[in-house]
Amino acid sequence: MSNDNILLTHIPESKEKYLTMMSETVKAVSDVFTDDSAYSGTTPWDLHEVVHQDSILPEEGLGWEETLSKIKEQILPYLLRTSSSDYMAHLHGPSLLETLAGEVIISAFNQSMDSWDQSPVATEVELEVIRHLCRLYGYNKSADGVFTSGGSQSNQTAITLARDWFCNRILKHDVQKKGLPDNFKKLRMYVSEISHFSMEQSAHLLGLGYESVVHVPVDSKKRMDIAALRQLIKDDKEKGNIPFLIAATAGTTDYGSIDPIKELVKIGIADNMWIHADAAYGSGVVMSDKYRERIKDLSLCDSITVDFHKMFLMPISCSVVLLKKGSDFDVLTFHANYLNRIEDEADGYTNLVNKSLQTTRRFDALKVWLSFQMRGQDGWNKLINTSMENAQYLYSLLVNDKSFQVVTEPEISSVVFRYVGEDPERADEINRRVRRLLMHKHGVVIGQTTDEDNIYLKFTLLNPLITHKKLDDLVTLIKFLAENLPESDEE
Ligand SMILES: Cc1ncc(COP(=O)(O)O)c(C=O)c1O
Repeated sequence: MSNDNILLTHIPESKEKYLTMMSETVKAVSDVFTDDSAYSGTTPWDLHEVVHQDSILPEEGLGWEETLSKIKEQILPYLLRTSSSDYMAHLHGPSLLETLAGEVIISAFNQSMDSWDQSPVATEVELEVIRHLCRLYGYNKSADGVFTSGGSQSNQTAITLARDWFCNRILKHDVQKKGLPDNFKKLRMYVSEISHFSMEQSAHLLGLGYESVVHVPVDSKKRMDIAALRQLIKDDKEKGNIPFLIAATAGTTDYGSIDPIKELVKIGIADNMWIHADAAYGSGVVMSDKYRERIKDLSLCDSITVDFHKMFLMPISCSVVLLKKGSDFDVLTFHANYLNRIEDEADGYTNLVNKSLQTTRRFDALKVWLSFQMRGQDGWNKLINTSMENAQYLYSLLVNDKSFQVVTEPEISSVVFRYVGEDPERADEINRRVRRLLMHKHGVVIGQTTDEDNIYLKFTLLNPLITHKKLDDLVTLIKFLAENLPESDEE
């Protein structure tokens, strides 16, 4: 195979080839959307048969046409269609059309956000987007932020900075130079018992271990119990442990519940702790005129995780971590002569790697820039309100039907419930089987979780195309399946 026109360049034949390959790909993608189902229903073992090959690296390349036809045959029909209104399993939403267009630009130009000379205008756009986001979440001019690979990395960045800030300022120990202080095993961070697992993962990666993570019980609304938090901190201090961080969740993964941030900040400040808000899910609520109030206290926190690949409906990856005091990023800076020279900043060249755990990094900020410009506040307000109001509708539907149990009223856009029917003893088995049947026989993909060791189903209603009629029909279908389960799922 020749090496002519293998890249997009100024040469007319290369542009022609780019346009052909892109348009054929886009056509193949759009051809997959023949109905609104989310999934073909194919089982893991059947998929294994479809994709299994002796080698994916043939001696001689197949060329574009044959490779594309293999993609059309073996991959595209089986991909989960996240934009389907039958997909509501996770905090992993559909992608707005303009952000798909954004991805074309991001991948074609392949800027890397670590140093200015690898991403000139892209760096300036990210700085501008971050400046706007700081304002949106109520921070003032001393705030700063950076794009990350997702909520987990945003949380990890914030927890790293919290640890360093606490050790530097309070324990007078420089972690960046000397590593962990001798008493590191006593450091404690407080999170709700239903916080995201990236808290434990970060504690592990930071050398603090799972034992540094204290799980605070939640109340009946699935929010961190403030009295329990106070007691746990008191107990820890009596044992000689050292509280350094409270991480609130603004939108828990399952329920979308929002911890009482204001109270929690008061407690944290009294003990010189860093307060982080994991708003990976709930950050989207800021776009709603009606519901913004629910997350207004985020601005009181030292750091905030905001995910754009959840409520904001942007393709993976797209997330930021914001800091109330931007200078707290300084501990992440390491100057390398080949990348981010000290004199660059003085000369007006910003190297974003100075604030990031990643080096090579995507120009994800473009998607936010593009979609904010295109839809404006008004467009975003409507999208977020639709998703929040769908959750309220579904909640009232389920709560008024004795066949179902709902864990708690939604604060954002997720509803966790189970079919109980006549025989609550069989509820776990019924709900588990109903979810599998929905996926494999009806192309409907919903979530599953547990509450107090019981199995529950979950609708995560990020997709603004979901209608009340759709929710009515799905509830009817779930009830029908639960009451008419086949002997075996193979039938
Ligand atoms: C509350 C919360 N925080 C953090 C994360 C992790 O985000 P990501 O999957 O983007 O790493 C999630 C993911 O669902 C989440 O629900």
